[in-house]
Amino acid sequence: MRRAFITGLAGQDGSYLAELLLARDYEVHGTVRPGTNPATSRIGHLLAGPTAGRVTVHGLDLNEPAGLRELLPAVQPEEFYHLAAPSHVGQSFEQPEAACAAIGLGALRVLEAVRRLPRPPRLFLASSSEIFGRPKQAPQDEETPLAPVTPYGCAMAFVTHLARAWRLVHGLFVCCGILYNHESPRRGEQFVTRKITRAAAAIKLGLQHTLELGNLDARRDWGDARDYVRAMWLMLQAPEPGDYVIASGQTHSVREVLDVAFGHLGLDWVRYVRSDPRLLRPAEPHTLVGNAARARRVLNWAPTRAFAELIREMTDADLAALRAARFVAAPA
Ligand code: GDD
Repeated sequence: MRRAFITGLAGQDGSYLAELLLARDYEVHGTVRPGTNPATSRIGHLLAGPTAGRVTVHGLDLNEPAGLRELLPAVQPEEFYHLAAPSHVGQSFEQPEAACAAIGLGALRVLEAVRRLPRPPRLFLASSSEIFGRPKQAPQDEETPLAPVTPYGCAMAFVTHLARAWRLVHGLFVCCGILYNHESPRRGEQFVTRKITRAAAAIKLGLQHTLELGNLDARRDWGDARDYVRAMWLMLQAPEPGDYVIASGQTHSVREVLDVAFGHLGLDWVRYVRSDPRLLRPAEPHTLVGNAARARRVLNWAPTRAFAELIREMTDADLAALRAARFVAAPA
C-alpha cells in the first residue's frame, strides 16, 4: 500500500485529494491545524466507515519549524502534497508579513524536511496564477515571466522559484502546480464563488436579504477543485518532475457567477447585490487565464466540468445544506 502525506488535509483540496488517494488504495497521513476537530471537518466522512483505518490525522502547526522534521521520518511517505497555506489574496494585503511567512517559509521548511529524509518522497508544491500578476501575454503558461502584484502572489512566486531551485540543485522530485482558481461545494465561504452561491441560496430561503461584494468586473479562470487535485496526483506519477499550469483556459466575470447562481434559483441579483468599497483590493491581477497544454500533453489531464455547471452544483449544495440546517434548528 502506497503512503501519502498531505498538509492541509481538511481544506477543500486536501479533502478531495485524500478521497482520490483512498480510492486508489493509498494510506493517507495528513496535517490539520491544532485545535481542528477532524470529525466535524471536511474529512469527517473519511474517518468513519471503510476508509477509517487508512487515514491518520496529525494536529501540527506548520509555523513551528521542528514539527514536520520530527514527524516525517516516522511516517516515511512516498508522496508528499503541500497544500497548507493562507489562501485568501485580499487578506494578504491586511497581514502581508504573516501571509508571506506562512506561504514562503512553510514551503521552504517542507523542502528541507523532505530533502533530509533517507528516501525523499516525491513532492507536490501548490503555487498560484497570482504569480503572473499583470502578465504581458494571455493565456499564461509555464514560461510566462513572474510579475506578481499582491503579497500572496509574491510569496507564491518565491515558492515557485524554490521548487525550481531545489529540483535543480538537490535533484529532488518536486512538482509545482501553478493553479488557477478552483472551486467546489467545499470552497471556503470567503471566496467569491461560494460567497455568491451561499447568498443566493440564503436569499431564496428568506434567510438573507442583501449581498455585499467588491469588484464585479473582475474576471477569473475558474475550474473545478476535483479536476485540480487529480492533476496534482498525475504530476507525481509522471516519469520526470516539472511545473504545470492547471487551468480551464476560459475566464468569466463575477457578474457571470451572479447570473448563473441567482438565475438558477429564479432570482434577479441586481435587486440584492450592494457594492462595498471595503471589499475592493488595493491591486488586482489582470487577464489571468491559463494555458494547460503541457498538462494535457504530458499528464493526459483535462478539466471535466464547465463553469456554469459547477456554479449550479455549488448553488444546489448550499440550498440543500441551508434547508437541512433550518430543519435541524426548527423547534419540534
Ligand atoms: N473574496 C471576494 N469577496 N472576492 C471578491 C468579492 C468579495 O466580496 N467581490 C469581488 N471579488 C473579486 C476579487 O476582487 C477577485 O478579483 C475575484 O472576485 C476572485 O476573488 P477570490 O474568490 O477571493 O479568489 P482570488 O482570485 O483572489 O484567489 C483564489 O484563486 C487563486 C488562484 O488564482 C484563491 O483560491 C487563491 O488561493 C488562489 O491562489
